Amino acid sequence: MKQKNLSRRKFLIQSGVILTVPLFLKHCALANYPRLSGKSGVDPLENSNAEEIFDPILKAINVGITAPNPHNTQAWKFKILSPTEMLLFVDEKRILPVTDPPARQIHIGQGTFLELLKIGANQIGYEAEIKILPDGEYKFEEIGKKPVAKVKLTKSMTKGHALYEFVKARATNRAVYEGDFVTKAEFAKLLELGKAEHSEIKTIVGEKSIEPFKELFFDAMKLESTTYRTSDESRIWFRFNDKEIQTKRDGISLPAQGLSGFIRWMAETFYMGPEPEKFHDKKGLEIFLSRYKEKIDSTKGIVFWKTKTNTQKDWILTGMDYARFHLAVTAVGLKMHPFSQALQEFPEMDKERAKLELLTGVTGKEKVQMIVRLGCSDYRYFTPRRNYKDMLMQTN
Ligand SMILES: Cc1cc2nc3c(=O)[nH]c(=O)nc-3n(C[C@H](O)[C@H](O)[C@H](O)COP(=O)(O)O)c2cc1C
Repeated sequence: MKQKNLSRRKFLIQSGVILTVPLFLKHCALANYPRLSGKSGVDPLENSNAEEIFDPILKAINVGITAPNPHNTQAWKFKILSPTEMLLFVDEKRILPVTDPPARQIHIGQGTFLELLKIGANQIGYEAEIKILPDGEYKFEEIGKKPVAKVKLTKSMTKGHALYEFVKARATNRAVYEGDFVTKAEFAKLLELGKAEHSEIKTIVGEKSIEPFKELFFDAMKLESTTYRTSDESRIWFRFNDKEIQTKRDGISLPAQGLSGFIRWMAETFYMGPEPEKFHDKKGLEIFLSRYKEKIDSTKGIVFWKTKTNTQKDWILTGMDYARFHLAVTAVGLKMHPFSQALQEFPEMDKERAKLELLTGVTGKEKVQMIVRLGCSDYRYFTPRRNYKDMLMQTN
């Protein structure tokens, strides 16, 4: 904690680190890589053209994989049935069984993919007919074996989707937010642009209403990050430097947490590392939590998505609502960051989850599927995606 407040010069002197000017400049520059691999990696349809991806279903998939998804594990695999048809499955090697025991969040991440795919298809002049769970709901052990959705594209009379232009700028933003609280009028605009088709969207407006959520967000993150097995799941998906981020092209990282330049370099060099003792180090954790509190305290508005039941279908359809809303948030120039910890179903979280249910007024079978903070930030970072070819299943 003390280290964080040291001036750069003092820190360099005390730590005995000698940085040459060019090296220092390198670490201060925000590594801003495009999201997709290959040529023209920012706009997914431009990327398809540059990479000579011709089949409509593949073009739509290339848009779909830019979707928000838990820990950026990209738990998607595709069986291509024809140039316009595919089956979507969860990639069972990329789920988060410790923090997401029912695979609820992973299925929300299937819905986000489908919504982006649909928008991409519209943009190139196709309607996407999406059949959710074509073989019905499945058990945890059947994840990856039974399909999440069957998609069929058909030529449409029109071309384009109003939200497509925001696909390339959409990103989860975990920086400290600035500016004013989101107003009722702004929320009304967001609800119109990012209208929910399945779940119910609730908004928390103004400083006073936000206040009771803050302690809960913090306590839930503290619990997740100090419980060894849940925190260790994040270690597995953490990418510790640019080289690892760019070669694995998945997972979470410091720049995605809103850390850039010298502070990022300092954290990666002195506090973070793939070794369990380093990752779970108490000092590093204290710094992380104190920064997390700053982020929570900078919340300018809260949104949550609620469903009447809590089925696999609810999860997937809420994911579609969530992705559309995130594009709407991008369209109005705001930023968004989920706080999923208190929603999670591992037993240590039971108490915090009950508190959140009380605060949000859910009862019986109802479930809060997602909860996010909103605000303004100039921070820019795009998490990479693997090439869609690495997500293709064998067809036969
Ligand atoms: C179901 C779900 C839960 C998520 N929960 C969190 C969360 O608790 N904290 C967080 O920082 N990001 C969370 N995210 C955001 C993802 O980490 C993010 O979408 C992913 O890393 C890809 O980055 P991008 O959204 O910038 O493309 C969640 C996303 C989804 C779809």
